[in-house]
Amino acid sequence: MDRKNQTPQGQIAQVIVDFLEVAVSCVVFLKGFYHPRAFERRRYMNVVVQKAVHPQLAGYIHSATSGLFPFIQKGLVERVLVIFYDKAHVPVEKFVFKLAVNQSYGSKIEEANLEFALRAFLIKLTVAEPLTRSLPSDGSWEITAYFRSLPPDGEKEAQLWIPTDTKQWMQPPQITPIKSMSCDPVKMQLYLEQPSPTEP
Ligand SMILES: *[C@@H]1O[C@H](CO)[C@@H](O)[C@H](O)[C@H]1NC(C)=O
Repeated sequence: MDRKNQTPQGQIAQVIVDFLEVAVSCVVFLKGFYHPRAFERRRYMNVVVQKAVHPQLAGYIHSATSGLFPFIQKGLVERVLVIFYDKAHVPVEKFVFKLAVNQSYGSKIEEANLEFALRAFLIKLTVAEPLTRSLPSDGSWEITAYFRSLPPDGEKEAQLWIPTDTKQWMQPPQITPIKSMSCDPVKMQLYLEQPSPTEP
């Protein structure tokens, strides 16, 4: 992709979707959802990560994350979630990437600096396993994005995103922070949401 004519928001969105592709892959590996052979050790930003190589898995992660590009660029995406469900499609764990991109930031950004800041999230993810709960068998997972506002109807890319029928928890979830950073023009937080112990 030619990045020379991109706005700072375009540059940032590209770095973020590339990061999310790797991060989601690491999350799915961490949860042991697939055979380890569906992944390959790769170096990304000089961190050893687990990249999905199984074609369907890699394709899903790639299309879901890269499909967010125009919406992240416009500041419409508030949260990107990797949600794990039990077999009744009730969420058992959510990995939440909360993000904000300053829309009035006008200077060129140093992509290397932003990548360096995001790298810390990948390092935390590689050691986050003890914080997570074990998954029931026969579960499923998916990538879901929450928008600050709805994209305009006519937009072609918006049609890829369908309203979610995710079941809600009755009680406020338990939240476990994993990593956060705030370095203008990007804010990002990664945390876990798990059902409260009093959840019926
Ligand atoms: C966004 O960027 C503008 C221009 O650089 C800056 O003045 C403003 O403080 C930033 N906003 C936030 C919330 O950081």
